[in-house]
Amino acid sequence: MKGLILSGGRGTRLRPLTHTSAKQLVPIANKPILFYGIESLAQAGIKEIGIIVGDTKKEIMAAVGDGSKWGVKVTYIEQDEPLGLAHAVLTAEDFIKDSSFVMYLGDNLITSGVTEFVAEFEKYKPNAQLLLAQVDKPEQFGVAVLKDGKVVKLVEKPKTHISNFALVGVYMFDHNIFKAAKAIKPSWRNELEITDAIQYLVDHNYKVRSHIIDGWWKDTGKLEDMLEANRIILDKIERRVDGFIDSESKIEGRVVIEQGAEIINSLIRGPAIIGARAKIINSCIGPFTSINYEVTIKDSELEHSIILENSSIIQIGSKIVDSLVGKNVQINRSLLRPSAYRFMLGDNSQVGIL
Ligand code: G1P
Repeated sequence: MKGLILSGGRGTRLRPLTHTSAKQLVPIANKPILFYGIESLAQAGIKEIGIIVGDTKKEIMAAVGDGSKWGVKVTYIEQDEPLGLAHAVLTAEDFIKDSSFVMYLGDNLITSGVTEFVAEFEKYKPNAQLLLAQVDKPEQFGVAVLKDGKVVKLVEKPKTHISNFALVGVYMFDHNIFKAAKAIKPSWRNELEITDAIQYLVDHNYKVRSHIIDGWWKDTGKLEDMLEANRIILDKIERRVDGFIDSESKIEGRVVIEQGAEIINSLIRGPAIIGARAKIINSCIGPFTSINYEVTIKDSELEHSIILENSSIIQIGSKIVDSLVGKNVQINRSLLRPSAYRFMLGDNSQVGIL
């Protein structure tokens, strides 16, 4: 069985971060989301993984390399335009050939991994196997209608309520999906929808199995989802201290402090992770916070946030919460006259001021 990870797309809901980088590389607990997917496939015994890339190809290739870090062989497949998931499948036809495969959306995170689902697919050998999860806002997903446990209907982003079962971004297919993807027409959003391709399989009496997952799953397209994913992943970390902590500092609960990090006169309350060579000085880092490498936090308080590499937060009088700060960002107290806020923000930035 092969793996196919989709890592193209424009990530519009995560702007401004995605103006300059791929949404699949935003780190959760200091590790790019995409890496969790590669790990899950490797754990399930998959050795050959195709990664579909688009505009952010260079960055994805630089981060992932040839896959040897995970003991897999990665092949990059270019999709010229993000014309839908079924279009991505067609782009990968030469790579997949007549193998069966797991398709994994690169911005999805499933804490249970996929090993059990892959084993199930290999045991029952259906033509397609879907993972479903109960959601509160089915209109944001592809949904499946079940009758006597069987999938009878699939609709992408339904306008009226037909089911609470969302399609999780992990699918298993045999080669018949190519026939289905070639038979369907683009949707109203001008995409070849995988949902429609699966509907084709259902309508033509192919065997489509579904599995309702009870573990945690997230499609991390938005800020709130990123923060929630960060919370769930940090909640599972084990305490590890490889950096320096001075005698004035206090470390509470499950905290990872990477090599070269320095904690000076500060309180770190877990679960939290402090990246390599980060400096935390006279500050309080609250629970559910990921500080990436070479970040400086001085005279500030932070909680439930993700701070990317090389940024600095200095002398901010009020606590910072629920925030996602990109790379090389500087948030400082301004001592200039007149006393005022001074911003230089990228397009689509969001700032909340007291
Ligand atoms: C895609 C699929 C949708 C699925 C979702 C899961 O949606 O089209 O069926 O439920 O991924 O993450 P998109 O991320 O393109 O809105």
